[in-house]
Amino acid sequence: MAVFLVVLGLIFVLCFCSALLRWNEVRYRKKGLPPGTMGWPVFGETTEFLKQGPNFMKNQRARYGSVFKSHILGCPTIVSMDPELNRYILMNEAKGLVPGYPQSMLDILGKCNIAAVHGSTHKYMRGALLALISPAMIREQLLPKIDEFMRTHLTDWNNKVINIQEKTKEMALLSSLKQIAGIESGSMSQEFKPEFFKLVLGTLSLPIDLPGTNYRRGFQARKNIVSMLRQLIEERRASQEAHPDMLASLMRSEENRYKLTDEEIIDQIITILYSGYETVSTTSMMAVKYLHDHPKVLHELRKEHLAIRERKKAEDPIGLNDLKSMWFTRAVIFETSRLATIVNGVLRKTTKDMELNGFVVPKGWKIYIYTREVNYDPFLYPDPLTFNPWRWLQDKRLESQNYFFIFGGGTRQCPGKELGIAEISTFLHYFVTRYRWEEVGGDKLMKFPRVEAPNGLHIRVSSY
Ligand code: HEM
Repeated sequence: MAVFLVVLGLIFVLCFCSALLRWNEVRYRKKGLPPGTMGWPVFGETTEFLKQGPNFMKNQRARYGSVFKSHILGCPTIVSMDPELNRYILMNEAKGLVPGYPQSMLDILGKCNIAAVHGSTHKYMRGALLALISPAMIREQLLPKIDEFMRTHLTDWNNKVINIQEKTKEMALLSSLKQIAGIESGSMSQEFKPEFFKLVLGTLSLPIDLPGTNYRRGFQARKNIVSMLRQLIEERRASQEAHPDMLASLMRSEENRYKLTDEEIIDQIITILYSGYETVSTTSMMAVKYLHDHPKVLHELRKEHLAIRERKKAEDPIGLNDLKSMWFTRAVIFETSRLATIVNGVLRKTTKDMELNGFVVPKGWKIYIYTREVNYDPFLYPDPLTFNPWRWLQDKRLESQNYFFIFGGGTRQCPGKELGIAEISTFLHYFVTRYRWEEVGGDKLMKFPRVEAPNGLHIRVSSY
């Protein structure tokens, strides 16, 4: 009898689940939508997406083609793996294809954050940012600071076991703080660091405003960061002292084409810190990983950097010309970003019903421009799973081809590309000319949804 009841219960649960799935599919069966499945009500296919990652995407593409519908991360979403369509979407923000980042991210990064603004406000904020990180600014102000920072950051690693993930994360944040406001690795940065880490976690959480949630902590961290930055701005105004940094340029609104309010200045600083943080740190960590695993590449890279050192005295900093001569380093950075796929894709949302590739996309739906697959396209990158930086030197057009999405594309293409490359290159310069290293072993690396080493990536370092 008991067995019979259990079997009956199971049959009931199965019928109920399949009816629920069916109901959810029917709900989204609108004319003109691309094919695909929507999963469970509310949760959609988020669990499958996060668990199976790239395989989920591959399987759905095999079943439905390179444009399909799904329901992930709380929203009905169109996933596009079609390179042509992706380019079109990135180039046509003005037609109603605006950034579609999660609400938690927008709330915590601020309403003047670049991802939260569109149209002429976006143009203005982007212009103000580009003026801060122009090639002239990199040459005169930023590179000297980056160089000084990396020299100190990479001191005393000899004979130590280093968690390179932690060190590169610290590096990305502290190097930016130095460029932004000349903040040295001292008391203010120590106060800033835990708040910033909470802010980052908050942007990736569900927007549930309850005590103890990452969202609430991230929002509180934003408030603390805003108050630290506001105090800094007030101190600068009171002292009238000249500072050669980004904050000073942002505050010099009289002679600046872009006049920003204090609120905009603060959100612009948070944008710079946030956008360059995970991208620069993870690319640096993965470059260390790939160099460790590919001694021939490390040899070539070291040759490039030792040649630069030979031309200089020990105390001479890296200059723009040195940076320009780092051909192989640039190739290592691109190859690392491609193979590790540091950025899986970018998010957009529709502001009205629109037609894309013959399908109708309803207003308010997200579009996940999934660029990961392009990185492993054997026609663009022969033998795509091999770490081969030479491919970028053999075919110089790779960097400018239409499907190079490592730094995004269109009107929101990464404005920090050259700054990020300068930071990673300078880090690699001091790392490979000062040290050799081996992995301690046993650390796990996750590639999806973000590239990270859940328990750190530990290396044993000795002097070179
Ligand atoms: C290896 C390093 C980097 C990678 C791989 C990278 C990648 C990207 C990508 C893929 C986008 C496009 C996002 C979208 O279309 O929605 C983007 C945008 C952006 N990046 Fe970077 N980035 C890097 C470094 C930096 C740095 C150092 C900064 C600091 C200034 C920065 C600032 C930005 C900003 C502000 C945007 C938004 C631009 C806009 O909306 O107009 N990035 N980045």
